[in-house]
Amino acid sequence: MTQPAHILGIETSCDETSCAIVTDGRRVLSNVVASQVDLHARYGGVVPEIASRAHIEAVNGVIEAALRDSGLRSADIAAVAVTHEPGLIGSLLVGLMAAKTLAWAWDVPLLAVNHVYAHAYSAALEAEPIEYPAAALICSGGHTALYRCLAPTRMELLGSTIDDAAGEAFDKVACILNLGYPGGPVIDRVAREGNPAAVRFPRSLLAGQSLDFSFSGLKTSVLYHVRGVPGALRDRQPARGVEALSPRQVADVAASFQAAVVDVLGIKLRRAAKLIGARSLVLGGGVSANSALRAAVTTLAGKLGCALRLPELRFCVDNAAMVAGLGYHYLLAGRTAGLDLEAHATVRR
Ligand code: KG4
Ligand code: ZN
Repeated sequence: MTQPAHILGIETSCDETSCAIVTDGRRVLSNVVASQVDLHARYGGVVPEIASRAHIEAVNGVIEAALRDSGLRSADIAAVAVTHEPGLIGSLLVGLMAAKTLAWAWDVPLLAVNHVYAHAYSAALEAEPIEYPAAALICSGGHTALYRCLAPTRMELLGSTIDDAAGEAFDKVACILNLGYPGGPVIDRVAREGNPAAVRFPRSLLAGQSLDFSFSGLKTSVLYHVRGVPGALRDRQPARGVEALSPRQVADVAASFQAAVVDVLGIKLRRAAKLIGARSLVLGGGVSANSALRAAVTTLAGKLGCALRLPELRFCVDNAAMVAGLGYHYLLAGRTAGLDLEAHATVRR
């Protein structure tokens, strides 16, 4: 391919409707994100039916805005990339229909992109190419997984969560602490005022050299700590609530919880990097915006002598630039999809 390849990407797997145009997998000409976070906030999590309806309302607008912002015309687009797995099925279908329609109408290839792999590519946007092999830790509201990456399109799963995702734990703990939704950014902020060593919450490392994760026990531990259970049960006292804690104690719980999550993520990433002889450490997904995690991984990369690849904050959360960027590599490899491409809520291991 001698001409620059402009790829239009569409992302609708969860609660952001996004369209972006990226040139040669790297240069982001536009990246428009319509967030639904306000629609879901009152429920404390994403409501699938509300999400798919909101995608339908937003998708045409974000596509038009992405084209307009890029300064390109539809005739300049070389291919359309779309997230087709994993995610909320009704939400994925909205993006898939839009992408198929554009690919058909413009007579350009359709590219199928895995959302989690796209997160692992987001550190390459507006940056140098990633050096492989890379150990990629992808943590978001729906996913927590470690990968051995040999190329943008060659990903091998090393381990993943057996229960809650890391971002989900942040959201649930923020709910327990009455801090609002989404929980990650607010816990990150409140934790700065707290002592991470105030409460020793459990670190679930699972057996041996496991690269899987578990966060549900940690979340329950925070709940019991805040409610005074099982102490309350033993003394036949009613469980208390977060109202019984001072702002200082809330900050200590937030900081101690965050420290437990960051410890586990760091230990597993170090294990994975050593196992595969990684040249780079890569973070991706909403939780990679976390300041304590970014600091811990920076130290880890220094100790291991690996390059550190942190996505820009705007590419940490869900966005279509990462989809268009990764889609370019599928186009280069000739791995295009048919118009019968299906959406999958989960990915088979
Ligand atoms: O990647 P993302 O936008 O959507 C999914 O694919 O799930 O990630 C959203 C998740 C939410 O759980 C949110 O609480 C978490 O990322 N998050 C954070 C931070 N910013 C967002 N978690 C910890 N610290 C943050 N600063
Ligand atoms: Zn995501």
